Amino acid sequence: MQREEISPSEVLQALEMACRQVVRNLPDFTYRCQNHSSVNNFYPPCDNNQWTCGFWPGEICLAYEHTHNEVLIHAAQIHMESFLHRIENHIEVDHHDMGFLYSLSSVSVYKLTGNPRAREAALLAADQLISRFQGVGFFIQAWGRMGARENYRFIIDCLLNLPLLYWASEETQDGTYRAVAMKHTQTCLAHSFRSDGSTFHTFFMDPESGEPVRGETCQGYRFDSSWARGQAWGIYGLALSYRYTKDERCIDLFRKAADYYLSRLPQDMVPYWDLIFTSGDEERDSSSASIVACGFLEMAKFLQKEEADKYGSLARQMLKSIYDSYRVVDPGQSNGLVLHGTYSKKSPYNSCTPEGVDECVSWGDYFFMEALTRLRGPWDLYW
Ligand code: GLY
Repeated sequence: MQREEISPSEVLQALEMACRQVVRNLPDFTYRCQNHSSVNNFYPPCDNNQWTCGFWPGEICLAYEHTHNEVLIHAAQIHMESFLHRIENHIEVDHHDMGFLYSLSSVSVYKLTGNPRAREAALLAADQLISRFQGVGFFIQAWGRMGARENYRFIIDCLLNLPLLYWASEETQDGTYRAVAMKHTQTCLAHSFRSDGSTFHTFFMDPESGEPVRGETCQGYRFDSSWARGQAWGIYGLALSYRYTKDERCIDLFRKAADYYLSRLPQDMVPYWDLIFTSGDEERDSSSASIVACGFLEMAKFLQKEEADKYGSLARQMLKSIYDSYRVVDPGQSNGLVLHGTYSKKSPYNSCTPEGVDECVSWGDYFFMEALTRLRGPWDLYW
């Protein structure tokens, strides 16, 4: 069934409302970060020590690109200084999320201003990211003490961390970063995607032999289900991986992962938090839909017209649904942009700590703005 697409005037209106909300939030969130998720739809401030702290400065940069309001780029530079301090002082950086943090807080500011301190922050983060590469098994270890058997795994989310490495190689002409990203991508393509196009959230390798061991979930419902946001990281991650590697397998897997995702969506095209659910009262994860929309719009650049149009249309349909039914329309309702995200929901089978269920989530807001920005016209990615 063909659903309605978001119109160009709705894109502009949503983007302008988002920019107003970002400016409205600056007094509370210039010297503090935005918590990963809201509490009763309002984000509390936090210190710069979460894996999610880059999304808010990413929104500030997107709002600056749309409005050219100098207050915004000033605020973005204040955040970037905080990120430089964080990486120089090694504050909560022993994990793989350097791309989520530094592509959006530092590569962004470097691209917009040329500030060498932003470049320095992003390059230090790229160094930190490649320090987590495991030569036995060829992957970037996601979490925990390096080499520990119980943490000897990569996760599908990491595909979004790799563009930082492609950027670092281009910037420095040192191919080491790119080589690590390519090796990790090969391993991820081989093991994170199941034959039906669904995905494993995390995947263990054997620390002695480097052989694949098993897939498990952390934030999905069950080991054999597909976590809705993991699937979204896979879809957008494949589009970005294709952009930087031109490996045709990324396109094949993208099609399969997208088909699987679309086959599990409820009527309004915004998934439940795990794709095992297709109807009922389980919470949605609106952030997954915005991430997938960005992935569809990115991959559309590399496809023949007919297929590109198909994914472009699907992205606009998903964004229309968010625009109509999930978007914050009144600042009294929330200090975020998009309602009904899910960070981590506990199930009888998963190992996550429950947080941010049916709330705004920082990346949900960021990717909604990114998708709108992509629809508004050509955009030089921060990724
Ligand atoms: N990358 C962690 C998450 O999506 O929750």
